[in-house]
Amino acid sequence: MNRIFSGIQPSGNLQLGNYLGAIRNWARMQYDYECIYCVVDLHAITVPQDPRELRTATREVAAGVIAGGVDPTRCIIFNQSQVSAHAELTWIFNCVARLGWLNRMTQFKEKAGKDREGQSVGLYTYPVLQAADILAYKATDVPVGEDQKQHIELSRDIAQAFNSMFGVDFFPLPEPRIQAEAARIMSLRDGTKKMSKSDPSDYSRINMTDGPDDIALKIKRAKTDPHSLPETPEDLEERPEALNLVTIFAALSERTVEDVITEFAGKGFGEFKVALTDLAVTTLGPIGDEMQRLMTAPDEVDAILRAGAEKANAIAEPILREAQQIVGFHRL
Ligand code: AMP
Ligand code: TRP
Repeated sequence: MNRIFSGIQPSGNLQLGNYLGAIRNWARMQYDYECIYCVVDLHAITVPQDPRELRTATREVAAGVIAGGVDPTRCIIFNQSQVSAHAELTWIFNCVARLGWLNRMTQFKEKAGKDREGQSVGLYTYPVLQAADILAYKATDVPVGEDQKQHIELSRDIAQAFNSMFGVDFFPLPEPRIQAEAARIMSLRDGTKKMSKSDPSDYSRINMTDGPDDIALKIKRAKTDPHSLPETPEDLEERPEALNLVTIFAALSERTVEDVITEFAGKGFGEFKVALTDLAVTTLGPIGDEMQRLMTAPDEVDAILRAGAEKANAIAEPILREAQQIVGFHRL
């Protein structure tokens, strides 16, 4: 049976890329599969965090996931640090994964930049923790954006290496599930950069809590080029900002890029942006409102996280015990 697992970091503002690339797909899957969704606070501390802000961001991101349509009565929603199996299985996997595999991880290289020596060891083994997240539940499918593909592949390598190291068929090899149409939502200021909650410019992204005025202003200011919309998607290949806006329109309206282009071919970006603003406001408005409401109801969110952690633990604990048994830990 398929079991879905995915995670999201509790770091500040949720943005449109998180919604279209992750949260919306999480919600879609809940009708067909057993789904486990995790706010990954252990991952967050791989870079320095203010403890108070981390606590707030954990609730805020949980609120965004719920407001984005993930139903806590259908899915498990919890924060990672509350289920100890994640950290415990990470240690075992640290002894299975090879340095060479981690040295290939592009996210580490990007995040570390020139200062590799100055990074925490946690940032380096970040993908090992991610493998433990997934495999502590023997999850089979992992809905993520394109940027996480390499990490899911590493999880497969770790699962396979564990199985062959101990001659067992214990961990499944998880599959990344990347939603093609919104795999990479790009910055509104630079069509070659991913939209990200950590970009210093707030104009680079649409936040899930942005109201109609902010959305309108950000789309108005979004970078484009002087040409009008072309006739075919191929003509957008060399126009990253234009392609991004059309991609966002397509994703929000659940249509294909081709379909959107057919409607707007020959029109200017001024007109297109007005239509995009309307669409974004009607789609994201109710989600932002619900997220704001939940953020003023921390007890409600905490109750969901607490119940989620209990259910998650009930699944992960026996799997961890069995893994420990396979490794040869003496259980007293
Ligand atoms: P993060 O914000 O890095 O914790 O990412 C949480 C989830 O959102 C992951 O599945 C990412 O792949 C996805 N995601 C983040 N930014 C984008 C983006 N700009 N486009 C598509 N997916 C994204
Ligand atoms: N590393 C992921 C990100 O930055 C978040 C994450 C942590 C995750 N654990 C996971 C995603 C397990 C999928 C499965 O987006």
